[in-house]
Amino acid sequence: MRTTLKIVLPLVVSVAVVSALFAAYQVRTERRNLRSELSRRAEILGESLQETVEPLLDHGPYKNLQRIVARFGQREHLKGVAVYDEAGAALAITAGLAPEFQTRPAAAVRAAQLDANYGEFLTMDPAAGAPPVPMHIFALPLHRDGQVAGTLVLFHDASYINTQVQHTLRDALLNAAIQTLLISLLAFVLVRWTFTAPLALTAKWLRTLRAGQTHAPPITSQGEIFDQLHQEVTHLAQDLNAARASAEEEARLRNSHVSIWTAERLRVSLQNKLQEKPLFVVSNREPYLNVHNEKDNSIGIIVPASGVVTAIEPVLVACDGTWVAHGSGSADREVSDAYDHQRVPPERPSYTLRRVWLSSEEEKGYYQGFANEGLWPLCHIAHTRPVFRPEDWVLYQRVNRRFADAVLQEMEGTESPILLAQDYHLALLPRMVKEARPDARVAIFWHIPWPNPEVFGICPWQKELVDGLLGADLIGFHIQSHCNNFLETVDRAVEALTEWDRFAVNRQGHVTRVRPYPISVAFPENGHGGNETRNSGEERAALCSELGIDGSLLGVGVDRVDYTKGIIERFRGIEHFLDLHPAYQHRFTFVQIGAPSRTEIDRYKHFLDEVSAEADRINARFQAGRWKPIVLLKKHHSHQEIARYYRAASVCLVTSLHDGMNLVAKEFIAAREDERGVLMLSTFAGAAHELPDALLVNPYDVQQVAEAIYRALEMPEEEQARRMERMRKNVREHNVYRWAAHLLSDLTEIRIDTPERIEVQQIP
Ligand code: G6P
Repeated sequence: MRTTLKIVLPLVVSVAVVSALFAAYQVRTERRNLRSELSRRAEILGESLQETVEPLLDHGPYKNLQRIVARFGQREHLKGVAVYDEAGAALAITAGLAPEFQTRPAAAVRAAQLDANYGEFLTMDPAAGAPPVPMHIFALPLHRDGQVAGTLVLFHDASYINTQVQHTLRDALLNAAIQTLLISLLAFVLVRWTFTAPLALTAKWLRTLRAGQTHAPPITSQGEIFDQLHQEVTHLAQDLNAARASAEEEARLRNSHVSIWTAERLRVSLQNKLQEKPLFVVSNREPYLNVHNEKDNSIGIIVPASGVVTAIEPVLVACDGTWVAHGSGSADREVSDAYDHQRVPPERPSYTLRRVWLSSEEEKGYYQGFANEGLWPLCHIAHTRPVFRPEDWVLYQRVNRRFADAVLQEMEGTESPILLAQDYHLALLPRMVKEARPDARVAIFWHIPWPNPEVFGICPWQKELVDGLLGADLIGFHIQSHCNNFLETVDRAVEALTEWDRFAVNRQGHVTRVRPYPISVAFPENGHGGNETRNSGEERAALCSELGIDGSLLGVGVDRVDYTKGIIERFRGIEHFLDLHPAYQHRFTFVQIGAPSRTEIDRYKHFLDEVSAEADRINARFQAGRWKPIVLLKKHHSHQEIARYYRAASVCLVTSLHDGMNLVAKEFIAAREDERGVLMLSTFAGAAHELPDALLVNPYDVQQVAEAIYRALEMPEEEQARRMERMRKNVREHNVYRWAAHLLSDLTEIRIDTPERIEVQQIP
């Protein structure tokens, strides 16, 4: 109330003062107008009388004069008329005029002296007990033979002016009072409604947040300011909650003596290791794509479906630094600054994204061609033939150089910088960077499998690729067998000393370590967003109603639509399961979230069609009423949207034909705080090495997949909980912060021998 008054009172006072000033002005103007109107009227009347009176001056006695004076004395507000001779004695005067006007008044003297009309307002002394009488006296000189021979004087009663002005003043003040009252009331209501009430609610909300009780924002009236305020406060609250959770987690871990890596611990550890130097990361895929929204011309943000992004983003958020990546979003240029930088994540900027721009020719040859039609199928044993075109290779080299130049530019001014390069798109970059900056510590992490040397030997440029990688000080793979395959490939492809005892390669004096670092997810302790107050069953019911289907059990698969992911094999497994166990028909629905991927490449475009056709075929066989066995959602989903499916599903199917790690498996586990649900996992995914509690399957074996689905759906809750608990413990302990800490710690401990520069003395 006090705040409202503080805002409203000054407003009331100002409105009142302005209204009063305006009323005063109105009164002044009114008085002036009435006076000048009276003067004008007196002048007109006087002049018309003057003409009549002047000829009568010569002939006394002045009976005619007296008649005229008597007749004119009757007019409205005219108190009387008098005619005076040269000496000032009244020749004729309206009866009833005050006795003091028997001699001419001062105005008449003045008119005679000036020989001009003269008017003035004055107040007559009242008769005893009566109020003073305001009067207007207007005098005109009268002439005889061109000489002033007397004066004609008109006496007006001006008291009506005061009365009228008083009425105007009363009306104006009344108006002002009503206006002030209305404006004050309106201001009071508006201030309460738009400011103080929402602010009070926000304050209450902040209090509950501070006490750590709720995450939900208050329900207040909508409005730009409050929307913005709520957004900011929500972020602040999230930060606060995250900080509180991480502090609690740290304390809990300290207490339980479990050494779990957290974002905070990684940050502190890297601060020491990097000695305040920024961390540099380079990958093809950027973590945030800005895209034009055609509907309303706005710019939207997409976090792409990419294992690299899932894993690296939390590391950079924790440590700050610069991430160099291809700017592939249609609106990326608009949001990047003159240095091609953008601070991200957009809602809570924590690190710098530096974009590299590629022409469509470069993108086609380097990304679609060499990386994804050549290296991707080469490294994944998924029976799609790799295609190697010389023109793609030229562009692959050129674009690696472009990325390397961008990295070098970003590193300028940083002594002994640390670079973490990512994946098969940038195999040549480590050497390019190292040649220019021998003081840099360079690691590259290969996110996909490394095949055996016979398979890798298919690539016409295997020697160049291996040599490019060996420019790094450290090469990371997900699992040991990929390291072994790589060392064997090195043995065959290039001249180098492979040191199997310490898993290193010595090529021309430069040593590269090769190590397994199983990548992981952040394992958020506070869930993944969405409505986490719903339990699994409620979430399932909500999703089914949103999808317009009936189903009492949900399965989920989350993949880019890629031929390595075993999506068609999964569908066939589901079909077989429904044939074998018809009791699950009308009950079990499998939701496949399929983010369309690399669709410019024919193989991917066709594969998307194949997947749709296979889902349609199976649905046509079994579909009944509002139930169907497969829901295929062919679009990009946010992490929050996906998390709802993870929590609602009884079983998550990861049936990759070949996969470096597969982070969907770990994300599903991280999302199951309720320790329910079953993970079905391909033995050909790197994650299978760490998660023996999943139901491991050979995705090519339709029968095995069908039986595993049955087993998952029949699994008693206690067994689900036992398995999930162990898997959660594993993923929590082996999270991505630990991955980054181990990899970067190994990298910083490597001794870098930079060749000494020998200054040659010039001999004059
Ligand atoms: C795999 C690769 C990543 C890549 C992701 C998505 O996980 O290892 O480097 O980003 O697929 O593919 P895309 O071609 O869309 O980047």
